[in-house]
Amino acid sequence: MKNTWMVTGALGCIGAWAIRLIGERGDEVVGFDIGENRRRVADLLEPDDLEKVRWVRGDITSATDLREAIEGAGANRLVHLAGLQVPFCAANPVQGAEVNVVGTLRVFEAVRDLGLDRVAYASSAAVFGPQGDGPPPDETTPTNPATVYGAYKVANESCAGVFARDHGVSSAGLRPLTVFGVGRDQGLTSGPTRAMKAAVVGRGFEVPFQGRTDFLLARDCAAAFLAAAEGGPKGARVYNLHGSSAEVREILDLVEAEVSGAQGTLTCGGDPLPLPEELDGAAFRRDYPEVKFAPLEAGITETVHAFQALRDESRLSLHDLVADG
Ligand SMILES: NC(=O)c1ccc[n+]([C@@H]2O[C@H](COP(=O)([O-])OP(=O)(O)OC[C@H]3O[C@@H](n4cnc5c(N)ncnc54)[C@H](O)[C@@H]3O)[C@@H](O)[C@H]2O)c1
Repeated sequence: MKNTWMVTGALGCIGAWAIRLIGERGDEVVGFDIGENRRRVADLLEPDDLEKVRWVRGDITSATDLREAIEGAGANRLVHLAGLQVPFCAANPVQGAEVNVVGTLRVFEAVRDLGLDRVAYASSAAVFGPQGDGPPPDETTPTNPATVYGAYKVANESCAGVFARDHGVSSAGLRPLTVFGVGRDQGLTSGPTRAMKAAVVGRGFEVPFQGRTDFLLARDCAAAFLAAAEGGPKGARVYNLHGSSAEVREILDLVEAEVSGAQGTLTCGGDPLPLPEELDGAAFRRDYPEVKFAPLEAGITETVHAFQALRDESRLSLHDLVADG
């Protein structure tokens, strides 16, 4: 049976990949987003496949927009990715709370009121601050966010627990760290992807942070959300998503090795991220063993080749190639 998926934040990076993967399965998909620019989805889908996607323009903070969209589409699968990233929340904490916290409460209310099976929603590794010399945090590690963005994600996870207990809403909150790949053009950890794009067009680039972080390919991240929206334990669960932990410098070396002429053009500087260097992802692997994450080198090669193909078709947008964008 064909499922009908509702993806909030569908015009964003992970959302665009979710739209592509759902289309590849042959399911129906409806993208819900406040924005109108379909550039990221257009970069990932063939024109014929793009035409099959239905769109609803709506605000996740509205009491009715999402509910009406789900009812109108007859959607039976829900992935919630709409949100504002770290820099936007730091610049405007009240708006950040409205979108990231109130918006997620609207999602839980819709799941409750419409009787959906479950929802997979975007939490974040930002529920944790830096861990010092301690082991990679797992899901039992106490949260200690270093940003208001991380604090909103902690609030969402707590609300998910209350909705499970009081209303039987099942949810999986996934915690990625540094997502990379085509479409990753904004946010605190977008630097490594922008460096890949810069290399492909022969420009230098400085990633505005250094040190070790946990890299996950956007396609694999989206696949994790789809699996968690389709099945898994009842109740409110949260899962760390562990890809590959590496130094930013190692990533840049791999990119420079992949792109001829890029040697010595990519740098990193500034403070390390206010985040763990690595996550323990054993719980997700245990509950969703069918989801496989690409090795780091393969993910970088895939991303560089995709940027080169877009460049060769004169479709590569360079709007994000500023030092601290
Ligand atoms: N990218 C990462 O590395 C990363 C890591 C951890 C968690 N996350 C979380 O995953 C989710 C998706 O991340 P992304 O990288 O795709 O983000 P993104 O910024 O690329 O996309 C977010 C999308 O949400 C939409 N949106 C914003 N406000 C909205 C509103 N009021 N109503 C409806 N839509 C709205 C935007 O228009 C945008 O298309 C976010 O919640 C983010 O916090 C991302």
